[in-house]
Amino acid sequence: MSTQDSYVTDDGRTIGPTVMEMKNITLRFGGVKAITDISFDIREGEIRAIIGPNGAGKSSMLNVISGFYVPQEGEVWYKGAKRPPMRPYQVAQQGIARTFQNIALFEGMTVLDNVMTGRIRQMTTGLLGQAIWKGKAEREETENREAVERIIDFLEIQAIRKTPVGRLPYGLKKRVELARALAAEPSILLLDEPMAGMNVEEKEDMSRFILDMNDEFGTTIALIEHDMGVVMDLSDRVVVMDYGKKIGDGTPTEVRNNQAVIDAYLGVAHD
Ligand SMILES: Nc1ncnc2c1ncn2[C@@H]1O[C@H](COP(=O)(O)OP(=O)(O)OP(=O)(O)O)[C@@H](O)[C@H]1O
Ligand SMILES: [Mg+2]
Repeated sequence: MSTQDSYVTDDGRTIGPTVMEMKNITLRFGGVKAITDISFDIREGEIRAIIGPNGAGKSSMLNVISGFYVPQEGEVWYKGAKRPPMRPYQVAQQGIARTFQNIALFEGMTVLDNVMTGRIRQMTTGLLGQAIWKGKAEREETENREAVERIIDFLEIQAIRKTPVGRLPYGLKKRVELARALAAEPSILLLDEPMAGMNVEEKEDMSRFILDMNDEFGTTIALIEHDMGVVMDLSDRVVVMDYGKKIGDGTPTEVRNNQAVIDAYLGVAHD
């Protein structure tokens, strides 16, 4: 697919050029093929969903994008260049941030400090630098604090800024994890089941934040989600996986009308 063309979403938005392209990705764990020959692209500014039954390979795919797994076959292209095998921190430095299927926060630290850890990419002065260029380090610290406070306001977690994360209910922990990922000011944000285990109200809040993030910051988002209502409402395009293979790809309307998808997935109830 050309990087020049664009497409129009179900709700009439024009989506721009390709920012990330997965080409013929195959990932194996010993004898298990978690991903078999999958290709798809992610475009600038879109909300791209990955759906499929349990064990379909969705998290594995997100882990390939984030550099956590290196596929045995295939290529990852980012911003028009083929990406060499990279460590996750290097991928993060390129502006790709993520949240985890199982929350990974520092439970003993406050919300504020957890969100601050998301700023590592923006901290250019190391310890030695801080000693030599005191002024620069202080300016940077102020900028980082301000950015973090803006995100805390945006995600409406001001009231729990000083609360240790371990004391928070599940839904709020998920929101703090989102805040930390957003603090990195990513070009692409990867969300692995951001609404799993949430009640209806928490899901509505999370959906609103994801839409606002995309709208206000222009963040490109790739997310895995089981709740089909949420997926259809939120996403511009959907990749459907089943047993490690791609069985559908398109707008929510296209995917909903795809017979292979209906047979494999949509007709079946999922938690
Ligand atoms: N580190 C690993 N080692 C061995 N096998 C793995 C590993 N990670 C995933 N798998 C296997 O790869 C397949 C895909 O798993 P993956 O976690 O990507 O699925 P998923 O679509 O995210 O499922 P779920 O909806 O349950 O989160 C499964 O068969 C799983 O057991
Ligand atoms: Mg998963």
